Amino acid sequence: MKEWVLVARIEDVKGVLRVEYGSQEVVLFRLSDGIFALRDTCSHEYARLSEGEVWDEKVYCPKHGSCFDIRTGSVSGLPAVLPVETIPVRIEGDEVYVYIENW
Ligand code: FES
Repeated sequence: MKEWVLVARIEDVKGVLRVEYGSQEVVLFRLSDGIFALRDTCSHEYARLSEGEVWDEKVYCPKHGSCFDIRTGSVSGLPAVLPVETIPVRIEGDEVYVYIENW
């Protein structure tokens, strides 16, 4: 079952921040207009997107260089062909919540 989970404070998300909740791996990105979240796993093979480079609102996988749109999770650079899951984000005061499975 999914629920809103507190994972960070806004000031913690300066650029890229990996967060874990149980078995859930999420990466938060600070863009000019807010905070966005993706599953912290490349859709090609296992690699953490939180360890990749961010450029022009895209994250580049550190393993083979696939490129994903931070807002939509869509692929804009091979070899990955599947999108990365986007995670809903909610801000309450200075707290950052993500909507994920609670296990
Ligand atoms: S593991 Fe990310 S592009 Fe291959």
